Amino acid sequence: MIRIPTLIPAVLAVVLAGPVCAAEPLAPAGAPADAFPKPDRPVAEIVAPRWSSEAARDKAGEFAEVARGMGFAPGETVADIGAGSGYDVVRLSPLVGPGGRVLAEDVTPDYLAALETRVKGLANVTVVRGEPHDPRLPPASVDAAILVHMYHEITQPFGLLYNLAAAMRPGGRVGIVDADDIPSRHGTPPALLRCELTAAGYRETGFHPLKDGAYLAVFAAPPADQRPSPETIRPCRDGATRRWRLPGDRCLGTRTAQAFTLSQPKVVSIAAPSPMMQAAACSSDSGSTNPSGRSSRCWPCCSASSA
Ligand SMILES: C[S@@+](CC[C@H](N)C(=O)[O-])C[C@H]1O[C@@H](n2cnc3c(N)ncnc32)[C@H](O)[C@@H]1O
Repeated sequence: MIRIPTLIPAVLAVVLAGPVCAAEPLAPAGAPADAFPKPDRPVAEIVAPRWSSEAARDKAGEFAEVARGMGFAPGETVADIGAGSGYDVVRLSPLVGPGGRVLAEDVTPDYLAALETRVKGLANVTVVRGEPHDPRLPPASVDAAILVHMYHEITQPFGLLYNLAAAMRPGGRVGIVDADDIPSRHGTPPALLRCELTAAGYRETGFHPLKDGAYLAVFAAPPADQRPSPETIRPCRDGATRRWRLPGDRCLGTRTAQAFTLSQPKVVSIAAPSPMMQAAACSSDSGSTNPSGRSSRCWPCCSASSA
């Protein structure tokens, strides 16, 4: 017979431990994090399981644009890396249908627990616990992967991209949605993204501007046996953060800079804003409107574009 006083500490421990996450990795560990160089740029903190309200995202047509750009098809296996609260997961589930599968992966236990509750009843969704450098997905199992508003939070992007490539089927496509902003403001400048993906052996196949200053960049993952080996990967210089932002959010006004270099330095031209634009952008750190109309949320002082 179980005595009640013996049960109380056990019940209390479960209650105090918070939400229980049952999600597990789906594959053995891939290459370890310390095999890869660290990114040469800030990495944003994980602050929330969602990007913005689902109603606002639907109004902006975000998922519809991503689905069009990625060309998801019934029967496919799609991985949502950094699935968060599941905005894309619940929309992908009917798209891939009963013959397909959505692998909803994340690294934050509380978010995974809430996600498991949300997708209960969606038979084609599997919630997966990954690691910051490794999504822990089975080899050659994924037709398409999306990383939505989370790339700037990946502490080990080169490890994640390397291990993700092993999970992709041949020709697998990887779509990255992010804000065109510096990483510390929860975005990734497209030139920096291209540089890091190229360093990891990925090839860009499409680029689609989205509303509110965001974009979808689509890449082909390298075949597992053609991935650059971890010790040959060189991090990219984050010219946007390093050169264009000063403490206190003040801008520099030069027109060109060495930025986003891979192995060979490449000069990119920087569209230097007028003094009036600089003043407007730099006077407030959030909620300011880009005078060019590019974004309705906070925007970087100076925007970079490849020459
Ligand atoms: C801002 S939320 C975005 C969530 C969702 N993709 C969306 O668009 O609503 C970022 C998510 O990425 C997750 N995340 C951060 N780093 C990660 C990593 N290295 N691998 C997988 N998920 C990660 C966080 O736990 C968080 O759930």
